[in-house]
Amino acid sequence: MLNLQTIDQELALVVQESIAQAFPENLPEDFKASVFRTSDPRHGDYQCNDCMQLAKALRQAPRGIAEKVVAGLEGHPALEKVELAGPGFINFTLSTDWLADRVLQLESDVHRGIPQVGEGETVVVDYSSPNVAKPMHIGHIRSTVIGNALDRLHRACGFQVIADNHLGDWGTQFGLILMGYRNFLDKEALEASPVTELERIYVASYQKSKEDESWLDAARDELVKLQAGDEENLKLWKSFVELSLREFNKIYARLDVRFDLERGESFYNDRLAGILEKLKSAGLLQESDGAQIVDLEEEKLGVCIVQKRDGGFNYATTDIATVFSRVEEFSPSTILYVTDERQQRHFQQFFSVSKKLGIKTDLQHVWFGLMRLPEATFSTREGNVIKLEALLDEAESRALKMVQASSPHLSPEIQAEVASAVGIGSIKYADLSQNPQSLVTFTWEKAMALDGNSAPYLQYAHARIRSVLDKYATQFPEGKPAEAPFQLAEPLERDLGLKIARFPEAVLMATRTYRPNLLADYLFDLAQTYSTYHQSIPFLRAEPGVRESRMRLIALVADTLKDGLKLLGIETPNRI
Ligand code: ARG
Repeated sequence: MLNLQTIDQELALVVQESIAQAFPENLPEDFKASVFRTSDPRHGDYQCNDCMQLAKALRQAPRGIAEKVVAGLEGHPALEKVELAGPGFINFTLSTDWLADRVLQLESDVHRGIPQVGEGETVVVDYSSPNVAKPMHIGHIRSTVIGNALDRLHRACGFQVIADNHLGDWGTQFGLILMGYRNFLDKEALEASPVTELERIYVASYQKSKEDESWLDAARDELVKLQAGDEENLKLWKSFVELSLREFNKIYARLDVRFDLERGESFYNDRLAGILEKLKSAGLLQESDGAQIVDLEEEKLGVCIVQKRDGGFNYATTDIATVFSRVEEFSPSTILYVTDERQQRHFQQFFSVSKKLGIKTDLQHVWFGLMRLPEATFSTREGNVIKLEALLDEAESRALKMVQASSPHLSPEIQAEVASAVGIGSIKYADLSQNPQSLVTFTWEKAMALDGNSAPYLQYAHARIRSVLDKYATQFPEGKPAEAPFQLAEPLERDLGLKIARFPEAVLMATRTYRPNLLADYLFDLAQTYSTYHQSIPFLRAEPGVRESRMRLIALVADTLKDGLKLLGIETPNRI
């Protein structure tokens, strides 16, 4: 196993050394050189702007500093050209031979060059987390898709990941659901579509409670009975959880999402009183209007209510208890929580309280904006809830039409398989290719565009390469690309090689910033470069040797697309 560094990290170290040698004194102790890829190829492959920042500390003009740094890099095997630009920028052009070697290193590495930066560290990813007896709403869908990508990205970087589905399975709504169940249940509907029926009886019961005070009291009594462990109520509650999970699991199976844990809020119930004790002994607890609170005004975070006037505990209390439980059991370095933007305050509050109680773990709320769904996008939209199953069905049936048109010769079974990969992939990619925090509008045209930044476009690029490789194998059964000398002779080949070599950088950046869209951008760029290459460079008709080298290069493009899409939870069928 190689455990390579990414190119930007490697160059940064080289620059760091050169600077340290040129300026043994005066260099700020915490100085760390940074090198990043250029956006304009005229400035080389990578660039460094550190000399601008160092000017003050070193009391020299940036250009003078840069000159010394450049002189120190003379003759480095990775670098073909190092140029000084403007007032003190340094531009690097990689040596093409070095780049070709690097590409081959990735080819043989099980991690495809992704540095295993997470080795020895555990990350808990809390995602999806729908509520029992309620259908998943668009926020849960996004949480599932984004959370699952973060889960896969962290695993790829060597982290031990605990994916935890923190189900909302405990709370005041169960009193009303129990009342609804006993009075309004339609057994057949429950069989057919459990969550829809559970929600219907909940809504009916809720409405009744608005008109009828005694109904609300009765619901409260049922809740108290449940919380006290009443056998009958506990049994019903368990069945609500199981029925809901069964339905959620169908969706997870279609989305290829798996959890290591499915601990709902109820799992932490026994710990809630203990959290209040902890807060009390830390002197953090205050009474306000009969409720128990932690005052966070100093941090401008308002007050965090940890126990209501009626003695019930809050969402925040459960989350604090959950942090303690996770820390004790898994000692994670980081816990990620993936939810929509509306919960920002909640997370800020309980993160702050957890810190005050001595939690050192890095707690991160990865929030996303709500996705806009233009009216009439989904035929089965009810109020603000889109039925996820219907959305997935529609995606698959649209994809099936596409596949039937493009590959009429495939068997219906294979067509259905491909349609599922394309349909589900489109939904996921439409979500993952956007900056999670920007407002996006979903449209089928965009999600399924064969000529734009979409899953089908990337899947098609991958399948097209596989088909070239198949043709090669048929025409040249004796050919052995893996044994042919590998070269990046054409400028477009060099460009493809450079992009393949940057895959680890893209993965690491997406992981570190919690933004899967950075990986999506990278993959789209790679596929576009390939497309240009495909149109302008002959492979099967190239001369022997060159042909083999090209087969090897495009196989690597296909593998990179496959691995990259896999990290986004998207499949790549060999045919489309
Ligand atoms: N069940 C919550 C909801 O649907 C999301 C839970 C997120 N995770 C957490 N630990 N609070 O809004």
